Amino acid sequence: MMASINYWAVVPAAGVGKRMQADRPKQYLPLAGKTVLEQTLARLIQADVFSAIAVAISREDPYWPELACSNDEKIITAAGGKERADSVLSALKSLTEQASDDDWVLVHDAARPCLTSEDIHLLIETLKEDEVGGILALSSHDTLKNVDGLKITETIDRSVIWRALTPQMFRYGLLKQALEAAVGNSAVTDEASALEMQGLQPKIVEGRPDNIKITRPEDLSLAQFYMEHQV
Ligand code: C5P
Repeated sequence: MMASINYWAVVPAAGVGKRMQADRPKQYLPLAGKTVLEQTLARLIQADVFSAIAVAISREDPYWPELACSNDEKIITAAGGKERADSVLSALKSLTEQASDDDWVLVHDAARPCLTSEDIHLLIETLKEDEVGGILALSSHDTLKNVDGLKITETIDRSVIWRALTPQMFRYGLLKQALEAAVGNSAVTDEASALEMQGLQPKIVEGRPDNIKITRPEDLSLAQFYMEHQV
């Protein structure tokens, strides 16, 4: 009999969020009665598919131990790293004892608190038999331009451009290996790019547009609006 496949969530939450101009990292700003990070983790717990959720937290983070969810039995704390990829790798390593190479890992940004169970299940159902894995993504409704300074050099064919969201879903062994090979490469801004560097072609699964990443101050009220109107 084949061993059953487990699903793990990894949440990089060790960034400082400079573009928010706030007194604390953006994952600790208030959103609908909790912090952004608590809202994000609540969404992952609600989906009811993960064996555990590994969260990468900066070593100098005074806020995390104050959150009740830091003691949740489903949540494992790992040390964050210099870049996002280092934080993800550290969280993956914290699962070494429990995860097997064929298990699936869904990596999700701490700063995307509006993720729905619907999108988590869509990603899993679409990719669970896939060789490589893939990511939630959004097509572009706007016309896209290449620019040099402030001058347009060309219009890009938008039908071939997609915006990478999270979760990004890959096999535990393959993802760990790809991130280890990519250490120090600043072009690796998501997990899919680490796999692309190995010559692999992750798939895209069209996600919901309300799965926004909190980046600028105005994104908080937009996230609150989406959370109130989600069904
Ligand atoms: O800064 P950006 O929005 O691209 O960060 C995406 C996610 O990666 C955030 O959840 C952030 O906390 C996390 N991150 C991390 N370790 C870093 C940098 C970013 O866990 N060194």
